[in-house]
Amino acid sequence: MNITDRITAARATLEKAGQGHVFKHIDSLDDSGRRILLEQVESIDWPEVARLVKSHVLNKPVFELPGDVKPAPWYPYTPPANLKNKYAQAGQLGEQLVREGKVAAFTVAGGQGTRLGWDAPKGTFPATPVRGQTLFGCMAEYLLKTREKFGVNLPWYVMTSPVNHVPTLEFFESQNYFGLGNETVKLFPQAMMPAIDMKTGKALLESPSSLALSPNGHGGSLKALWTSGAIADMKKRGIEQISYTQVDNPIVRVIDPLFIGLHALDRAQMSSKMLPKREPLEKLGNFCLVDGKMTVIEYSDLPDELAHERLPDGSLRFLAGSIALHVIRVDFVERLNTSSDGFALPFHRAEKKVACLDPATGQPIKPDKPNAVKLETFVFDALPFCDASIVYETSRSEEFAPIKNADAPGNTGVLDCPATSKQLQVNRAAKWLEANGVKVPRKPDGTVDAVIEIPHTTATEPGDLATVKLPGSIDPGVKIVI
Ligand code: UTP
Repeated sequence: MNITDRITAARATLEKAGQGHVFKHIDSLDDSGRRILLEQVESIDWPEVARLVKSHVLNKPVFELPGDVKPAPWYPYTPPANLKNKYAQAGQLGEQLVREGKVAAFTVAGGQGTRLGWDAPKGTFPATPVRGQTLFGCMAEYLLKTREKFGVNLPWYVMTSPVNHVPTLEFFESQNYFGLGNETVKLFPQAMMPAIDMKTGKALLESPSSLALSPNGHGGSLKALWTSGAIADMKKRGIEQISYTQVDNPIVRVIDPLFIGLHALDRAQMSSKMLPKREPLEKLGNFCLVDGKMTVIEYSDLPDELAHERLPDGSLRFLAGSIALHVIRVDFVERLNTSSDGFALPFHRAEKKVACLDPATGQPIKPDKPNAVKLETFVFDALPFCDASIVYETSRSEEFAPIKNADAPGNTGVLDCPATSKQLQVNRAAKWLEANGVKVPRKPDGTVDAVIEIPHTTATEPGDLATVKLPGSIDPGVKIVI
């Protein structure tokens, strides 16, 4: 089809969806501008946008708590006596799957990182306390250590977005793929959705030749893994399990044999790690069984009285919080994408400030309060599609030091920011050193009186330090890399 016919067809689709204004300026654009806008428009499912405008923009979807909601069971971090054998078996199975090269690492890094405000892909943010190693670097070093420990080169798939794909690729090239080899790291972009004017339900334009687009949420990974050819590539390499992580946690266990083994032993399709919530309303999704199916209910959707319910021993009844770590079977992603009745994750509404052309004046604006609805899908909404799914508890101090927000001046009160993450990294390093007999200086209140960093190439768990030449003690106030 020539460009004129394509524009005619796209115009008809837009008009049918109530979005004809998107092509208002197309005739005055130069050839390149016309092509950019046309390609954007052609990449979007406009009938779906029209449905979502009604259900999620002009109306707010109302969450209805299903009748049968129970807390999901989970495997505890430390196995109780009756599960010791199972954990030992799971650990062995997980290690075997890793050694046999049946596991791939997968990081979702297509988000915009608006809260952090870093003017580059979030994975390029310097995260560690002494070297300033980047988030991608921390994960790459984890995989280098995995390679050394298990004698296997596991592939690493990284989902980007059309916005950050090229800078991410350039970054990996500039770092020489951290020594992993460019055939090991596979980058592919996710799909985008238009931001919609909150008041009118019209798609916003960023410029006359571009929609205001944003990535379609981490749930988009389940489609992008398929459409990018990543699943086909995994099958060719004999990969069976995908270890799914987010880009924003420098101490995440990129590959965790015990978790993979528990999931595989129970023949689960998609499994999750949980943290016990610190308080009833902590902003983590809640692992529940809804009509017997594993489901995450968002913190904002779980009624307060359920969130506050306690068991006779005083612990929260809905204790298991989601931190977006999963193991997913390759054939589960394939099944979702090839099922005859189609597969669609539900969309969620997020109210955001989106820079755009003012729909009234056509002038560029940077709003200071939310003006748009972004439509995103979440990966955990695939859990109810599983026949079997397990939840495994992890440890906050060992595995959770997220970087979501920017540091505040004076570092007061902001959580999940670079400063809090660095402190958590230091605390973990100190604990690992002490477990290996090193004297670590501590202040009277017990906090570590030094800045200590243990790169993942040195250790991904305390036991790895047994073969490392360690100092007998660390001097107070020093900065040190082990
Ligand atoms: P967040 O929900 O924290 O969003 O993403 P974000 O985009 O990084 O940051 P804000 O909300 O704009 O401040 C959690 C993980 O999911 C990925 C992110 O890259 C991060 O690893 N993600 C999020 C995607 O890959 N695609 C998306 O569309 C959204």
